[in-house]
Amino acid sequence: MAALVPVITIDGPAASGKGTVARLLAQYLGFNCLDSGKIYRAAGMLALQSNLALDDEADMLYLAGTLVKNEATLSSLMQSPNIGDEAVGAAASQLAAIAGVRAALLPLQRTQLRPPGLVADGRDMGTVVFPDAVLKVFLTADINERARRRWQQLQECGMHGTMKDIFLDLRRRDEQDSCRAQSPLRAAADSLRIDSTQCTPEELASQLAKDFIARCSFSPFCFPQGD
Ligand code: C5P
Repeated sequence: MAALVPVITIDGPAASGKGTVARLLAQYLGFNCLDSGKIYRAAGMLALQSNLALDDEADMLYLAGTLVKNEATLSSLMQSPNIGDEAVGAAASQLAAIAGVRAALLPLQRTQLRPPGLVADGRDMGTVVFPDAVLKVFLTADINERARRRWQQLQECGMHGTMKDIFLDLRRRDEQDSCRAQSPLRAAADSLRIDSTQCTPEELASQLAKDFIARCSFSPFCFPQGD
């Protein structure tokens, strides 16, 4: 039997720091990294560019299918300088509520699972996409701190926005992501719940690397199972 590939999932609301922690953790462990939000954002961006109504389920299903079949389009959208825009995040959040869109994008996320391991961040990584993850984290932070972080990120990218607008966007997106029927933002029952308000991403990532290594000694998902 082939070796099983270990997964670490980090879920949480927007701007909770999960993307930065996931990248650092992947770097520390030499693992691959999946930012699943970017896939939903790419779909949101394509819908905006194509002037499609985000609540038209048939159009959104077609669009998700097109993205899955066109790797080059997906990758160029994911690398667009505007992928982090709030408008793109809001569009992503709207189409992410459609069951068929989520079903179409699910296999694409799972194909990112390659040796030696994967750190995946998003909203449903631990609950739906990788339910067998060795370590599941649910990362939160105070909403004022999240708004401050997002504001700083926008400044660094030369984009602008008032703290009040960012706060309201985050609150709207939290509500939309948590209240939807399909794969709502929710901590997996077996996840570690961490509040990142007072921690640096470096502190968190190195603590999680230690937790992962400790868990690995007990998990069949960390070791080859023989040929
Ligand atoms: O993580 P990020 O803020 O980039 O995600 C953008 C949007 O994509 C989220 O607000 C959420 O609605 C959607 N998303 C999702 N499931 C994921 C990742 C992102 O529904 N696994």
